[in-house]
Formats: sequence, structure tokens, C-alpha cells
Amino acid sequence: MRKICFATRNIHKIQEVKAKLGDDVHIISLDELGCKEELPETTGTIEGNSRQKAGYIWEKYQVDCFADDSGLEVKALNGAPGVDSAFYAGSRIFADNITLLLKNMDGISKREAQFKTVITLVIQGQYHQFEGIIKGQILYEPKGKDGFGYDPVFLPEGAQESFAEMDISKKNLISHRAKATEKLIKFLESL
Ligand code: IMP
Repeated sequence: MRKICFATRNIHKIQEVKAKLGDDVHIISLDELGCKEELPETTGTIEGNSRQKAGYIWEKYQVDCFADDSGLEVKALNGAPGVDSAFYAGSRIFADNITLLLKNMDGISKREAQFKTVITLVIQGQYHQFEGIIKGQILYEPKGKDGFGYDPVFLPEGAQESFAEMDISKKNLISHRAKATEKLIKFLESL
């Protein structure tokens, strides 16, 4: 079985990606590697941060690994919060980020947005990137209790429920992360 480190401490990302990967890939955690520090995310882009996080683990531990960097891009806010999604309101607190987002969208009726994930895989020192995008709308108020981040205010295109009203298996059929992970799986199968 292939063993790969997933360079994240986000339990929700781990659950979603593991559910897609199934038993074919054994995920090694950062703790198992002995990595205790925060991974760097300083490039200013989702693509760059994804590469930076995976590259940090490869350079330091020389293990095959992948990283996920994601963000919510709102059209009416010129793509914000984007790469700053995790710390939009100044900390990682999801509720505060949602409150600020809804405040910044007060009075705005054009509510198109998209979630984007870029997964960077480093395998034997070679870098590969896989992107996933899901388009949708920002709701006027939070709905649902599942998921994480901005899930309660994101209504995916064609859906009747927010991401936070879906269980993992439903979100995993359509989400940005699921799409990027499907590309990752295809690539691993082709090796
Ligand atoms: P990252 O760890 O730098 O990739 O931060 C991603 C941030 O974007 C998270 O902290 C969430 O706020 C948001 N985000 C990314 N993916 C999702 C998702 O699937 N649902 C809701 N919010 C997400």
C-alpha cells in the first residue's frame, strides 16, 4: 500500500480526503512524522501556499506528501477572502469569519462565489498540482451544523442545501476538495 503524508492539521480536510482515498492509500499524519511546527503559508496565493506546505515537508523529511490549500472566492468582493479565508477576521474562528463575510456582503444581491482547492503532491521530489472548483452562492444567513469554515453560508450550484446541511458523503460528491482529490487519485493510479 502507498504511504503518503497529508501535510495538514485540519481534521475536516483529513476526514473528507480520507473518505475519497479509501483503503488504497495510507495517510501519514504530521504528528507521526514528528512535525510539530506550523507549516509556512506566506506566498499570497492558494497555488503558492499549497506548493509551499508540501515542499516544506518534502525538504525537511524527504517523504512523499501532499498539501491542500483552499479558499472561498466571492465575486462581489473581488475574490476575497481567497487566500486569506482561514484568517479573514483575524483568527481561525469560523463563526467570526462568517460574521465578517456576511457584514461585508450586506446590501449586495450578487452573491456568486466559488470554493477552490489546490492539492500539491510531491512524489520522489517531483511536484504535481491538482485543482478543484465548485461554484455557488453566499447565503444571507448560516444554515446547517456539519462541515467547517464557510460551509454554513455556501449554497453549491444546483443544490438545495448548504454544504453544512450535507454529510461528508454528500459534500464529497461535488466539493472543490473532492474534485481535486479525484484528480490526485487518478494520477496515483496512473503511476
Ligand atoms: P487553508 O488551511 O489555508 O487551506 O485554509 C482554508 C480556509 O478556507 C479554511 O480555514 C476555511 O475557512 C476555508 N475553507 C476551505 N475549504 C473549505 C470547505 O470545504 N468548506 C468551508 N470552508 C472552507
